[in-house]
Amino acid sequence: MCGIVGYIGGRQAVSIIMDGLKRLEYRGYDSAGIAVFDDTQTISVRRASGKLRNLEEALRQNPTDGNFGIGHTRWATHGRPTEENAHPHRDSKGNLVVVHNGIVENYLVLRHGLQARGHVFLSETDTEIIAHLVEDAFTGNLEEAVRAALAQIQGVLAIAIISRLDPNKIVAARQGPPVVIGLGEDEYFVASDVPAILSHTRDMFFLADGDMAILTASGVTLTDFVGNPVTRSVSRILWDPIMAEKGGYKHFMQKEIYEQPRSTRDTMLGRLGAESGRAFLDEVLISPEQMRGFRQIRIVACGTSWHAALAGKFLIEKLARVPVEVDYGSEFRYRDPILGPDTLTIVISQSGETADTLAAQREAKSKGSPTLAICNVIGSMITREAAGMLMTHAGPEIGVASTKAFTSQLTALFVLALYLGQERGTLTEAQVRAQIEEALKIPGKMEQILASEVIYQNLARSLHKAKDFLYLGRGIHFPIALEGALKLKEISYIHAEGYPAGEMKHGPNALIDENLPVVILAAYDPDDAESRLRYEKTVSNIQEVKARSGIVVAISNEGDKEIAEMADYVIPIPVTSEMLLPLLEIIPMQLLAYHIAVRLGCDVDQPRNLAKSVTVE
Ligand code: G6P
Repeated sequence: MCGIVGYIGGRQAVSIIMDGLKRLEYRGYDSAGIAVFDDTQTISVRRASGKLRNLEEALRQNPTDGNFGIGHTRWATHGRPTEENAHPHRDSKGNLVVVHNGIVENYLVLRHGLQARGHVFLSETDTEIIAHLVEDAFTGNLEEAVRAALAQIQGVLAIAIISRLDPNKIVAARQGPPVVIGLGEDEYFVASDVPAILSHTRDMFFLADGDMAILTASGVTLTDFVGNPVTRSVSRILWDPIMAEKGGYKHFMQKEIYEQPRSTRDTMLGRLGAESGRAFLDEVLISPEQMRGFRQIRIVACGTSWHAALAGKFLIEKLARVPVEVDYGSEFRYRDPILGPDTLTIVISQSGETADTLAAQREAKSKGSPTLAICNVIGSMITREAAGMLMTHAGPEIGVASTKAFTSQLTALFVLALYLGQERGTLTEAQVRAQIEEALKIPGKMEQILASEVIYQNLARSLHKAKDFLYLGRGIHFPIALEGALKLKEISYIHAEGYPAGEMKHGPNALIDENLPVVILAAYDPDDAESRLRYEKTVSNIQEVKARSGIVVAISNEGDKEIAEMADYVIPIPVTSEMLLPLLEIIPMQLLAYHIAVRLGCDVDQPRNLAKSVTVE
C-alpha cells in the first residue's frame, strides 16, 4: 500500500503535500515523510515514525518549504516502521530523494551489487535501492537516470523522485500500484489516489503500467520506460471528497472486497516463481532446515483469522503432510497445550495486536516453540515477538469485518504449505509447479467474480428478510462456510451458522423449513478425484435441504447444470484446484453479506458492539 503525493508549481509545497498525505492516511500510517527543494537549493527532508501528526510536529519544530516536493505515508513491507525506514529515501550524497509504493522483488541482489560498488545504506527498505540505482545512472538528466534504474528493477512500484542536480521537475513512474496526475493552472500534482489532490483540481489522468511522467511547473510530459512518448486522456473527476477516499465505493468494506485481486497478487509476489516453478520464503527468518524438522504445527488466532487458520490446517496437512492443530487464542493458554521446540506455532492476526493471540504466542514461546507470525501490520506486537514473519500484503483494512486480510491470510498459508511441501519433499517438482501456475491465475479469476455485482443485489433483495441462515461446506470448505456465516452476522445482525455439510443429519436438519436459506459450497476441481467425491456428497446435501423445502443458494462451478437444476439460486465461480477454491468462493459470500447489510440499513463499516482490533481479553 503506502501513499505518495507530489507538487510542483508557484505555491509553497509543504501544506499542499501534507494535506494530500492526510487524505491518503487510509493507505498506511506507520510513518511519514516529506522532501522539498528549499531556498538554499538543497533538498530538505523531514520524517517521523507513527501517525502523520508526528510529522506535522517535526515540521513545526523544524520548518521548511519550497515550490516543489514529494511526500509519503508508509505501510511497511520491508523494514520496521522506524524513522530511518520512513520515506523519502536518499542516495549516498543526498542529491536526490525517492518515495515509493510497492515492492522491489530483487532487492537483495540489487543491494548486494550496490554495496559491492561502495554504496552505504541508511535504512532496511527496498526503496532506498531505487535512490542508489538512480544515483549510479545519473549523468545530468533525472528521467534518463530513472529509466536506467527501472530497467534493473523487478517488482511493482509507484514512485516519485526529485533531484537537486536536475531540479524543477518531479519524475513519477508506475508499474503496478496506481499513480494519478492532477492538472492545475501552472501547477501539477502526482498522487497514489484521487482524494489527495481533489481539493486542488478535478482534471486528472491515471498513469498506465509502464508509464513515466515528468512534471514541471509548465506541464507534464509522458513517456514509456524506454522514453517513447505516450498519451493518456484527461478525466474530470466529479466525486465528493468522502466518496473519493473510498475510491468511489459506498463503504470501505466494499472497496476492500474489490481490492482482493490486488492484495492476493501482492501477497504472492516474490514468493511463487512462475518460471522457476518454486515457492520462496527467504524472508520468514526460520531456516529451511528448521522448517524441514518440525514434527507438528499449531496455529492460533481469533475471529476471521481463526477461520484462515482452520483452512491452513487443510492446506498444510494436504500439501506438506505435517500434523496441524488449530486453537482459538482465547482458549490456548488455559488448556496447558503440549508443545515444545519441535512444534512450529503459527499465529495469525491482521492487526498483530489482538490480546488473546498475543498471549497465546507468549505461551507457545514459554514452552520453547518457535513462533511464526502471519500478519498484516509490520512492527505490531505480534511481529515483534515472533521468531519469523510472513507478511500479508493486504494494506490497511478499515472495515471492521475482515475481507481482503482474510484472503491474504489464505494466500500466505497456501504459499507456506506449498513451501513446506517442496522443502519436505511431499510434493514433486511438477506438483509444485502446477499449484503455482494455478495460484497465479487466482487474481484474474477473482476479477471475474467481482465483475457481476448485480447477482448479489438481486439475492439480497430476495433473502434479506430471513431470520437465520445456514452455511455448509466440507473439507477445506467448512472453514470458509464458517467465515461466510460470520460475515453475515457481523454486518447484518442476522443469525447465521456455519456447519460441516456431513453433520447436517446430526442436528441442523431439524432447522430446515421454507424460510431458511442454506448457502452451500459446491464448487470443485473436476480433475481431482477427492474433490469430485466431496462434490458428490455435497450434491446429496443439496437434495436433503430441498427435500425439506429449504432455500438453496449454491456456489458452484460455472456451467454446472446439475446444481443449477437443484438449487434455488446459483452463484457461478471459475474452476480452480481444490486447495485454491477458498480464495474464490469466499468472495460471493462477502458480497452477499454486504448487500444484505446495505439493504437492511446497517452500519457496514462499523457494526454495533464490535471493534477492529481487540486489544483486551
Ligand atoms: C476482531 C475483528 C475481526 C478479526 C478479529 C481478529 O474481532 O472484528 O475482524 O478477525 O478481531 O483480529 P486480528 O487482527 O487478530 O486478525
